[in-house]
This record gives sequence, C-alpha cells and structure tokens, in this order.
Amino acid sequence: MLSINPTYNTQYTSPINQNRQIRTIKPQNDTVQFKGRVGHEVIKNGKKNLTLIQETAFFREPDTLNWAIKYIQNKFAKNTKIRIIVGACSSGEEALSFKMLMKDRKTEILGFDAGENAIKKANKHIYQISRPKDKKNAEFAKEIGLSAYKDGYLSFSSRPLTGMHKKHQELFNKFFEEIETPEHKTSLITKFRNYLLEKMGRTPDIEVKSRTYKLKNPETLNCNFMVGNIEQMDKFTPKGKAHILSFRNAFYHIMNEDLEQFERTPLPDKELKPILDNIGKQANRVLEKDGLFILGEHEDKQGSNMKLLSEVLKNSGFTEAVENRNNYCNIWKKVKDL
Ligand SMILES: C[S@@+](CC[C@H](N)C(=O)[O-])C[C@H]1O[C@@H](n2cnc3c(N)ncnc32)[C@H](O)[C@@H]1O
Repeated sequence: MLSINPTYNTQYTSPINQNRQIRTIKPQNDTVQFKGRVGHEVIKNGKKNLTLIQETAFFREPDTLNWAIKYIQNKFAKNTKIRIIVGACSSGEEALSFKMLMKDRKTEILGFDAGENAIKKANKHIYQISRPKDKKNAEFAKEIGLSAYKDGYLSFSSRPLTGMHKKHQELFNKFFEEIETPEHKTSLITKFRNYLLEKMGRTPDIEVKSRTYKLKNPETLNCNFMVGNIEQMDKFTPKGKAHILSFRNAFYHIMNEDLEQFERTPLPDKELKPILDNIGKQANRVLEKDGLFILGEHEDKQGSNMKLLSEVLKNSGFTEAVENRNNYCNIWKKVKDL
C-alpha cells in the first residue's frame, strides 16, 4: 500500500503569489525555498473532502510523450488541425510539454483539471523550475519518489546534458523567459518544524533552489485551461473530436477512497467498475478513430487497478497501442465507435 507524505499538506508556497509584480530580468541568483511546486488542493465532493495531489513536471515520462507525438504526426499528417486534450493537467506543465514538442501552429490543446487552484496557476503562465538544494534534500526527494524536480535540468545542470535534455532545454528557452524569483524567507517556525520532522525520522519538507519563468506568448499558443472532471467530459469538451486524450498519473484519485488518510484504500471493483465504464465511454466519444488515450507509466505503483481499467478500455472500443511495460499498457488506440 502506498503512503502519502504528510508533510506535503501544509505551507505550499504558490509561485503565483510570490510573483505579483512580474518583470523580465536577466538570469540571476537562485532562490532557496521549501518544496518548489509540489502541491496539493482540497476540494469538496458532495459531503466529502477530496485531496488532489498536483505534483507534475515538464516533459514527464518522455518516452510516452515522444511515442504519442510521433504516432499522431504520422497518422494524422494530412489534418489541418490536431486536437489534444490533457486531463488532470495540474498547473499546465504536461499540456505545455505537448505544445512545445508538437512544434506547429495547427495543434490546439485543452487542459482540464478538477482543481480550481491548479487551473488558476496554469492560467497565470508562470512556472518555477526547482531542484533539491543539496545532496541531503535530493536524497529525501528520491526516497519518497518525487517526480516534481525531474525537470530541474531545464534550468540547472551541473553535467553536460543528454541529447534529449538539450532538445527540451532549447524548446523551453524558446517558449519561456526567466523572470525574477523574489527572495523567499523561510520562517523560524518552518525551520523548527522541519528540524523536528527530521529528528522524528519523518521526511521533512524538501528545500529547493528555484528559478522562475514566464510563458512568452500565451495568447498565440492555442492552449487553454479549464476546471473539469474526467467523469463529466461530455459536458465541457469542444465539438471537434480529439486525436489525443491524456489522463496521466491521476487515476489513483478515482480508484481510492479519499486520499486524506496516508494509506490508499482501493474502492471495491463493484463500485469502481461503473465509474470506469462511464469514463471509458466518454473517452471513446471524445476521440477520433485511431486517436490515443494515454495513461501514466507507473499508475499501478500509485495505487490504481490497472487490470480493471484495461478490461474496461477493451470493452470501450480501445486496443493496446504499445507493449505492456509495467504489467499494463499505457497507450491505447480507439478502434471503433461504441
Ligand atoms: C499527480 S497530478 C498529475 C499531473 C500530470 N498529469 C502529470 O502526469 O504530471 C494529478 C492531477 O489529477 C487531478 N485530478 C484528480 N482527479 C481528477 C478528475 N476526476 N478529473 C480531472 N482531474 C483530476 C488532480 O487535481 C491533479 O492535478
């Protein structure tokens, strides 16, 4: 059973609030702060509270991104428009990664997320690239399997970059410009709390170095963000059928009881199956034939029932588009309308 680090649940400092007065500046010294953009949001779902974990990164799971983009560019080469829907887009990094990698003007992207704060952040077009401050913090981040700082190479690199990382960095610099990261003072209380957590053998907040970036031309990107729940996609997705529907690293929210407890309690199959059937049907309706439904590469480890989801997708007009990598297939192709 997966446990969630309780220390995420407090004092996340929103990059937006730190950057009320934005102006373009020359690259400058790194600012040390706690946690960078690993965040969470609690929303009401009926009588229940739902804790949404909004950790994300640019170019996350690049093999999946690259495979899907190559496939779409070949399969729909003659199309004048390519439509990509990124569900569970969090603060927008995934949608913008698709946009940067597609390298064309004909791609329209819609990002949606159940979290209002996440969408507010996405619509501000301001991002922080962070990396753990030092070796000790890097070890904490590794220990709890954080992915949020895996894009640190876009701004901080101590070693020569690999070919792929270099390409990402070039794309990132084309789309973003650095702006000032205000000095972030960590209060004595936070420092003391962190000290206690460490003494108690618990994972303290990760201390990170951050740099802040602003999207250069958001208005010309054809990339929109809105609040939306994948279970109600029919109500808000645009008319034209999409070529990609991505919903990565989020199914554990749907497949478990509320995540406020540190343990994830899976919903019984009987309760879960109709929810997944409903999502499968809507995914089918949203996509063009031969379009892709993309999942994360490690959904099973996050506490999702991938056996049941795979069965549902097979019965919802999808077939496996790539080989199983982690006991399930994470890229599905729509083969027929229902
Ligand atoms: C860990 S983040 C994943 C972000 C991004 N897809 C990635 O892979 O980096 C999970 C996101 O799923 C969103 N989410 C959870 N349940 C959702 C639902 N039913 N519909 C839309 N978004 C949802 C959360 O708000 C959160 O931002």
